Amino acid sequence: VESFESKLSHFRTVINERLNEVAVNAQPASFYEPVRYVLEGDGKRIRPILLILACQSVGGDINQCLNAAVAIELLHNFTLVHDDIMDHDDLRRGRITVHKKWDQATAILAGDGLVALAYQNLLKTESDRILEISKIFTEGIIDLCEGQALDKDFESRPEIELNEYMRMIEKKTARLLMIASEIGVIIGRGSQKEQSILGQFSLELGCAFQIRDDVLDIEHSSGKSYASDIRQKKKTILFVHALNHARQNDRDRLQKIYQKPEINSNDIETIRSIFETAGSLSFTLNQVETRINNARAALNKLRLTDAQHDLHELLNLILTRKN
Ligand code: IPE
Ligand code: IPE
Ligand code: MG
Ligand code: MG
Ligand code: MG
Repeated sequence: VESFESKLSHFRTVINERLNEVAVNAQPASFYEPVRYVLEGDGKRIRPILLILACQSVGGDINQCLNAAVAIELLHNFTLVHDDIMDHDDLRRGRITVHKKWDQATAILAGDGLVALAYQNLLKTESDRILEISKIFTEGIIDLCEGQALDKDFESRPEIELNEYMRMIEKKTARLLMIASEIGVIIGRGSQKEQSILGQFSLELGCAFQIRDDVLDIEHSSGKSYASDIRQKKKTILFVHALNHARQNDRDRLQKIYQKPEINSNDIETIRSIFETAGSLSFTLNQVETRINNARAALNKLRLTDAQHDLHELLNLILTRKN
């Protein structure tokens, strides 16, 4: 049997080949060059890989779903380009962000274009359920925008409850993973039951993914700007937990820092140590584990296939990811 690592690298090669064709030699360069730049970045390609494995897990094959897999990665890259404008970030995948390398107008247009390129590829899918697939894809984008709106709204709110945080990350991050797996199941002619199992699986996986991402923000070498969430006053799970569980003195310090117009490097280290002493870091890592275990439980309801095994491996990858 082929190892999971070699499968992953095969999938990545196939996906990257297709992504490299998207903006090749096209004019005007002011549109296509930044698009090509984004797609050449070293992304993990988690969403298209999930779509392919979901398709395979119900008996479909990669050739049927590759257009949709490419579409979901193009869509994801749109969200990253616009997210970096919204979050004022300079670094993505270890490289300077599009709006910094060029300018904001260029990045807005590149993002818009990526959405259209995503649909162009999605609609190449040969399926008698293409209308349903397009509908799921579209509803997913709407939910993602709602999630991104909540994420921005929360910046200016002093307190956020854990359940509000969870609703926000389900929309901004987990929904895209859910539609990836649902579309994979539909293309692979899976049952309604399999679609809902893999949907549930991806909801759990997606939440684990974003919770882990919140921790990566304060780890160096994620390829993204260090402590950007803190500078931007994001209500990450770390912050939400600390605000409810730190001792009173530390809560006051947290809130005071988040009220400052500019958060400096000293503030960042203060906040990090409050996260540490309040147990917010261990709480958060526990949450990642719990959600991964929930995903495993969902996955075990699927029939046994190589793809089911690979999806378990994908969970391990997300549990231990360093970028
Ligand atoms: C980053 O997604 C955005 C989040 C939802 C946290 P990834 O971590 O999948 O980014 P790439 O595509 O691998 O760079
Ligand atoms: C991820 O949110 C959600 C989307 C990109 C839609 P983040 O803002 O946390 O993602 P990163 O950390 O910039 O990749
Ligand atoms: Mg961001
Ligand atoms: Mg963001
Ligand atoms: Mg983040």
